[in-house]
Amino acid sequence: MQAPLRRKPRRRCPLYAEDEREKLRAAGRFNAQLMDFVRTIVGPGVKTIDIDRQVYEYTKDHGHRPATLGYKQYPKSTCVSVNEVVCHGIPDETVLKPGDIANVDITTIVDGWYGDQSETFLIGDVTEEAKRLVQTTFDALYLGIAAAQPYARVTEIGRAIEQFARKQKFSVVREYQGHGIGQEFHQDPGIPHYVPTLNAPQDILEPGMCFTIEPMLNVGTWRTFVDSRDNWTVRTSDLALSAQFEHTILMTENGPEILTLTTNGPQPGHIF
Ligand code: MF3
Ligand code: CO
Ligand code: CO
Repeated sequence: MQAPLRRKPRRRCPLYAEDEREKLRAAGRFNAQLMDFVRTIVGPGVKTIDIDRQVYEYTKDHGHRPATLGYKQYPKSTCVSVNEVVCHGIPDETVLKPGDIANVDITTIVDGWYGDQSETFLIGDVTEEAKRLVQTTFDALYLGIAAAQPYARVTEIGRAIEQFARKQKFSVVREYQGHGIGQEFHQDPGIPHYVPTLNAPQDILEPGMCFTIEPMLNVGTWRTFVDSRDNWTVRTSDLALSAQFEHTILMTENGPEILTLTTNGPQPGHIF
């Protein structure tokens, strides 16, 4: 007899209990500490592969594991996305030079739980436009976080982000989203960074959910393409600048808790 056809049920977003929230906090805390370490390395004259090597060693030395290494055959421990690279830049012999903007995205597995965050660094003096893009993307992340309130719709996050980006005349990447996170790297719910469309997700942000917000803003078109030479590197279609910031957020009964806040990095309200 043939098994009845079943629609694959939509995977439910896990709601984490207090003991699990402590695991998530520990993962976020370590990942943020790692970002503060990255901050001491990044600058003009540094090769992106050297940042990656040091992240690998720091993570191992602390007894943890870089999540991207071997993830879907991704070859490195970080993503370093420079200038027109939107995300998933593979560290290589590229030397950071004054005027560049460079996003470093790091994800660590701590005791089986994931922390995920990224920052865009200004390398030396950058153009006013590059600075404004980075500032707007940073502010957009915090507006998205503020829109993430208990029992709000997931779509309020993207609405806040894109409305703000548009006012500054920047576009928002649509093909890559934030994501649920926990004992897996990427899980439900998806977190769009754009104003909701007709078929937008209906998910409600419930206390106990954990997810990333990671807007990518572009100076030109929102459209992107994947480099066919490595099948990873994502660039803007017009090769204009792109910036990104990311935090891991735990929804609590009292509002969003940022799990990946750094000690030495730009704090909410920072002026670049
Ligand atoms: N850290 C990225 C994110 O924010 C994912 C990188 S996956 C990789 O979701 F394979 F490209 F490293
Ligand atoms: Co992420
Ligand atoms: Co990330």
